[in-house]
Order: sequence, then structure tokens, then C-alpha cells
Amino acid sequence: MDRVPTGIEGLDKKVGGGYPLGKGVLITGAPGAGKTIFGLHLMHYSCVQGKRCVLIATEESPEDLLEQAAMFGMALELFIENGLLSIKQVLEIRAGAVARAAHLIDGFSNTEIDLIDECHLDRSFRHDKIGFNIGEMDIIDIVKLVPDDTDVLVVDNLGVLAFGLDIKQFRDKFDTLNRVLNERRLTTVYIMDDAAYKSTHQIADYSTHGAIKLFVKENPYTGKMERYISISKMRSTPISLDFSLFEITDSGIQLHKSKNVEILG
Ligand SMILES: Nc1ncnc2c1ncn2[C@@H]1O[C@H](COP(=O)(O)OP(=O)(O)OP(=O)(O)O)[C@@H](O)[C@H]1O
Ligand SMILES: [Mg+2]
Repeated sequence: MDRVPTGIEGLDKKVGGGYPLGKGVLITGAPGAGKTIFGLHLMHYSCVQGKRCVLIATEESPEDLLEQAAMFGMALELFIENGLLSIKQVLEIRAGAVARAAHLIDGFSNTEIDLIDECHLDRSFRHDKIGFNIGEMDIIDIVKLVPDDTDVLVVDNLGVLAFGLDIKQFRDKFDTLNRVLNERRLTTVYIMDDAAYKSTHQIADYSTHGAIKLFVKENPYTGKMERYISISKMRSTPISLDFSLFEITDSGIQLHKSKNVEILG
């Protein structure tokens, strides 16, 4: 099976050279575990190799993502300029509703609230010309955001599209999305927050070709909090089920050698 390097050397070694080409992999983890940074590595390395990439961002602004990437020496804006990378911001357009609620308490005028709305929208238009309202979006609509010639896609965070769906609805929609993207030979990393992953009974694991979990846990021997990665599945790939320690350094994610699973208790 052909591979798409993950952009993280230690991870490539653990998954037979990279994510399976044309397939979907799910990355889950707690807040701050490092999910988005895994996605940024993939976007950067793929662009360096001349692949066409799309990052669908539901939480962070393109500016924040570019700034985070730049901290690791990944100049993603160059790839936006040369057209290899597109960051599509899918907004939760709640600002109006939230501001209106605040209005009751803080006495914002309607004009002020409309201004807040406009600023919020304007920010998304600047980078990609089009903002998308998550309230009107279905999981399968992700397909519409991805041009046909795209090679690599990161969806960060799929979890917000799972709100309000029962488990069967979520499974059906996510399976369909996966099948459509597989047919398009699109290598996809779905990032999903732990809250949505658990509230959908971890069912997303079954739809994708691979599943990677990130943890932040206390090392009982040192009392220090540490980051761990577990590759729970990667079809057509021999993998170790051992947890590996990783760190986020000035150059991004660095994997260490495998750690004994007992540490996680
Ligand atoms: N330059 C850096 N050096 C060390 N650690 C960093 C650096 N930049 C960011 N981090 C760490 O990375 C963490 C965030 O990683 P990331 O944004 O990938 O998490 P996440 O799993 O996507 O979180 P969320 O669920 O909130 O989106 C921060 O909490 C911070 O501790
Ligand atoms: Mg994130």
C-alpha cells in the first residue's frame, strides 16, 4: 500500500512509512493533547512534496493556525500563496446569538451586536473568501469544500459536526463521507475531540482505515504529566500496540521510543 508521510519522522516509522494513501485516519484526544499539531505536520510536509492540501478548520482561525505552524518553523503561508494549501474556516456562527444573550445582561445595542457579527464573518472571508456556517452544515457537506484535485485533507474538528446526531445517524453519515473520500483517493486525517468521540460511543473508530489516540497522563514514577500516542489500528499495516511517549518541541512533535503500557494505569 502506498503511503503519505505524516510529517513526523517517528510516526512514519510506526505506521509503515505514513498514513495509507487515499484512506481516512482518525486522530482523537483531550484538549491540548496535540491533535491540531499532528494535522499541521501533515499539511506542511505534504505541501513541501507538492501535494494539494485542504485544511477544514472548525475552531481555530487561519491566522492562529499559521502562527502555531510558524512556531515550529513551518511557513504554511507560502503554500497558501502558491495555491497548494487552502484553509477553509467553518465557523460556528453563534456570535450573534451569544451577543444577543449578552445584550440582556450587558446592554449591547442591536447595532453593536450586528457589528460583532460582521467582524466575526469578515475574519473568515479574508483568508478564503468564503465562510461556512456550521449550523447549516452536514458531515457529508465536507465533500463540497474539497476541490477534486486535492490530495490530502485534514478536518479539524469533526466533533462539532457530530452535535445533535444520534449514534446511528453519525455512523451512517461518517461512513458515507469516508466512502466518498476513499473513492476520490483522498488521504484524510479526521481530528475529533474526545468529548464528541465519547458521546458517539467511539464509533468513529470503525469507519476509518486507521485510528490514533493522544493522551496526556501522569507518569506515576516521576509525577510529571506526559504525552502519549497509541495507534489502535492501521489496516494493512503491522503496528505495535504499545504506547509511545511524545513531546511538543520547538520543531513540533517528537516521538520517543515505546513506553511500557502499565504507565498509563
Ligand atoms: N512551541 C511549542 N512548544 C511546546 N509546546 C507547544 C508549543 N506550541 C504549542 N504547544 C503545546 O501544544 C498544545 C496544543 O496542541 P494542539 O493545539 O495540537 O492541541 P489539540 O489537541 O488540538 O487541542 P484542542 O482539542 O483544544 O484543539 C498546547 O497546549 C501547548 O502546550
Ligand atoms: Mg486542536
